[in-house]
Amino acid sequence: MEIIPENLTWKDSYKLYTGSILPRPIALVSTISKGGIPNLAPFSNFCGVCPRPFIVAFAPLIRPEDGTKKDTTRNIEETGQFVVNIVTEDIVTKVNEASIEFASDIDEFQETGLTPIPSSKVMPYRVKESPIQMECVLENMLAFGEGAGSSNLVIGRVVQMHIEDVLYKYGKIDLANLKPVGRLSGEYYAKMSDLFTLKRPERH
Ligand SMILES: Cc1cc2nc3c(=O)[nH]c(=O)nc-3n(C[C@H](O)[C@H](O)[C@H](O)COP(=O)(O)O)c2cc1C
Repeated sequence: MEIIPENLTWKDSYKLYTGSILPRPIALVSTISKGGIPNLAPFSNFCGVCPRPFIVAFAPLIRPEDGTKKDTTRNIEETGQFVVNIVTEDIVTKVNEASIEFASDIDEFQETGLTPIPSSKVMPYRVKESPIQMECVLENMLAFGEGAGSSNLVIGRVVQMHIEDVLYKYGKIDLANLKPVGRLSGEYYAKMSDLFTLKRPERH
């Protein structure tokens, strides 16, 4: 099959995108509005960018129904700050509830039952139940496209990390006990339950 993405409708392009780029880690992003209303939403358009400086990025789409920015994007434009909370098996069901398009005056911490705890260096709260929390300041925000299917790329510098003590051993994160989940396409998610190792080949 040969496909030129530009020729697709936004829905078909979205299906091709989510079906080809996977599994995707999930960032549960906490922000706060100028008026002080906390917000929580998951984003699987999420990746690491640079280990030092520690840079992460995620991409909230423009709402296809009306072309407006999601609350997360707007809050970050207003405050320049956010917290990325890593999503694990234990919290993924509650995280999914945070993806409901609540009105912007609704606090998703209350709606989902996830617990807000104060951050050290930024205003948005951290999610207590997430074992890895990254306090971020906005480095840059880029815009791609127009209307349905378009998105912003939010690039943040991690200024403070919080890791559950038991997960951090000899400078490494304990993968087996972290239990991160990945987003696939449609309603599918992946657990890290079928691992294998590969030694990186030496050059000869
Ligand atoms: C696991 C998961 C991953 C998601 N990833 C994204 C994403 O990468 N980009 C996006 O725009 N929306 C994504 N969504 C949908 C948003 O979470 C949803 O639109 C949310 O209501 C946005 O909230 P906000 O308006 O409070 O920012 C995802 C939903 C789920 C359940």
